[in-house]
Amino acid sequence: MGTYIRYHRNNNLFELRTQNSRYSFFLRDGQYLIHSFYTDRRKKPEEHTVSPRVHFSPYSEEQGKDFFINNILREFPGFEEGDYREAALKIRNQNGDCCTRFIYKKHQIFPGRQELPGLPFAEADETTETLAITLEDKISKCEVMLYYTVFAACDVISRYYTVTNRGKAPLRIERCMSLSLDLSGRREMDWISLPGQYFYERNIQRVPIFEGIQGCGSRRGASSHYSNPFFAVCNRSATETKGDVYGFNFVYSGNFQTQIEACRESSIRIQTGLGQDCFSWLLEPGESFTTPEAVMTYTTKGLGQMTRNFHRFIRNHILPKETQHTPRPVVLNTWEASYFDIDEAKMLTFAESAAKNGLDMLVMDDGWFGARNHDRAGLGDWQPNPEKFPNGLKAFADAVRAKGVQFGVWIEPEMINPDSNLYREHPEWCLGVAGRRPSLSRNQRILDMANPAVVAYLKEMFDQTFRDFEPDYFKWDMNRNMSETGSSFLPLQRQDETAYRYMLGVYDLFAWFRKRFPHAIIENCSGGGGRYDLGMMKYSCQIWTSDNTIPEDRVRIQFGSMMAYPAETMSCHVSNRKHLTEDSRYLNYAYQVALNGTLGYELHLPNMSQTVQQAIAEQIREYKTHLEFLIRQGNYYRVLSPFETPYSAYYFESEDQSHILLTFLQNKGETPRTVKLKLPSADQNARYRDRYTGEIYEGFQLKKGFTLTTSEANHFGRMWALEKI
Ligand code: DGJ
Repeated sequence: MGTYIRYHRNNNLFELRTQNSRYSFFLRDGQYLIHSFYTDRRKKPEEHTVSPRVHFSPYSEEQGKDFFINNILREFPGFEEGDYREAALKIRNQNGDCCTRFIYKKHQIFPGRQELPGLPFAEADETTETLAITLEDKISKCEVMLYYTVFAACDVISRYYTVTNRGKAPLRIERCMSLSLDLSGRREMDWISLPGQYFYERNIQRVPIFEGIQGCGSRRGASSHYSNPFFAVCNRSATETKGDVYGFNFVYSGNFQTQIEACRESSIRIQTGLGQDCFSWLLEPGESFTTPEAVMTYTTKGLGQMTRNFHRFIRNHILPKETQHTPRPVVLNTWEASYFDIDEAKMLTFAESAAKNGLDMLVMDDGWFGARNHDRAGLGDWQPNPEKFPNGLKAFADAVRAKGVQFGVWIEPEMINPDSNLYREHPEWCLGVAGRRPSLSRNQRILDMANPAVVAYLKEMFDQTFRDFEPDYFKWDMNRNMSETGSSFLPLQRQDETAYRYMLGVYDLFAWFRKRFPHAIIENCSGGGGRYDLGMMKYSCQIWTSDNTIPEDRVRIQFGSMMAYPAETMSCHVSNRKHLTEDSRYLNYAYQVALNGTLGYELHLPNMSQTVQQAIAEQIREYKTHLEFLIRQGNYYRVLSPFETPYSAYYFESEDQSHILLTFLQNKGETPRTVKLKLPSADQNARYRDRYTGEIYEGFQLKKGFTLTTSEANHFGRMWALEKI
């Protein structure tokens, strides 16, 4: 018995409670785990009854004729046992078939959680408890340990499992979903996901769930720009503030599959995991395989609350602890200002003007190493280019620091240009399949991170490159997706494991970086936001949200990202749009967009006019003094969606509800009209003063909605910094 997880012996019921939700299932005849409900903690749950007799539904003689496995709600569905919906786990056994019937053996409840070997996972706190249930398929001798971990304070429950081969012959895992949840009844429900593409990541898409299978995923070897592992299922009537919402995410950065299967007779089955494309795993006798962790949350309070549950969870359980309570540096990144055209003298002028204007760090982007004067050569050769840095990197880093800013550096560890010394030495260190010509993308190939020798080499080499001056920040990029995914290191029968083992190699290298350079921040990047996921967030507290820094587009990308991820995970830069940056309205608008995350700049600061430099210095002063804390720790509310209106409006409210930072953004000028801004969480008995104008607002007025007149001008943004008086 735990505080949050209980097993009721009298009715064989397992009950998992979080602050506001309740998840329950029971054991039928000491064998099957049958889902009861996932609901509000205070709500009386609907009784779940075994479904009535239906034609064409198999039953087993042992279980009796009123038990149709295809029509019940299940916690862990196997394959080909008369349940025609998708299985959570499919294994091919020694007889060549894939039948399984996983039967309960025992369970255990313990405080905290277990670590996942080699994988990122959510850290425990004092409200964390775990239920581990052992199941077994007697014929194949396959044992499954199902884990349910409760993060009670955040209303999140996680799921994953370990498969162990207890037999004498090898088994092959052919489908693997970390989480499988059956919701009862035929309800009108919607599915919300975040599809996108390079340069336009994470659009909010809400569509009705239809009968049959729907879902998304990635076969790119990365969670990708095109799909995101987050998704939600909600009642058709759910709004920002009301309605049943179930949110899901996956703590993993490679290929994945999410799936919703709506069946006419019984249920909606929701699953997320590694899936079955681009993945299978050979399990020798005695071996175990652990799936990545999936997480879920439930609320009756609409989409806004689901978002806040996930934001809190990511802040408290996923992001690296050591970066949580210190201010993030405001960086000057060199990419959009200078591209590959960098050298010591030029970079020092950047460092100088960064320091002069109150920025904290120079991040030297691509172009500093090997023959990297363009994107056709040099990746893999991580020694500074002697023509650009004749005194070496240590001397340069010292000089940057002497100017008064920290020093960050761009790397792309997983990639290689065929035109590089490393490739000439080790062509076999790339992913590829025998007999097929490898495809290139951005003139590069992918190192075989499934091969431990490659990972070991990278550790050794980066240690040598950076040991003398330990950068304060790494921007870790990854600029292509997988094709011809095979590893010359792995035997034939394990080729399907390549993409997954690749991710294990990547995580191993990330973990090494964190340990070797414990004070450095790692900013993750994959051609912008191509690996924007919980796996990456375990190692990098911020991610380059998109290569698109045009504020009109960024508004949508950031709004979409925040559906699932908190503001501080988004690196947001005011960028180098030369003709516009000198326009003060534009500069202010770009800043109002970028401050919504972790603020930075990506422009040729030394060449900017004095007026612009002063304006930037003032922005940074304001951000650091009044805004950063609220944005990083506040609760986030959506007000107007850029996916539904020509505007975007949202606010952050401090935990004690004394401060609110409200932003309204309008991309395009229009004939002025009024729009209503409603702040549902405002205290209706309080009064607020806006720090920018001194105006007083009544709480009830904010709650009911106050009007704002839109502007004729392009790039119109307005902010209110409201403080309770
Ligand atoms: C892609 C990234 O998204 C950019 O910000 C930049 O770092 C380039 N790669 C450098 O090659």
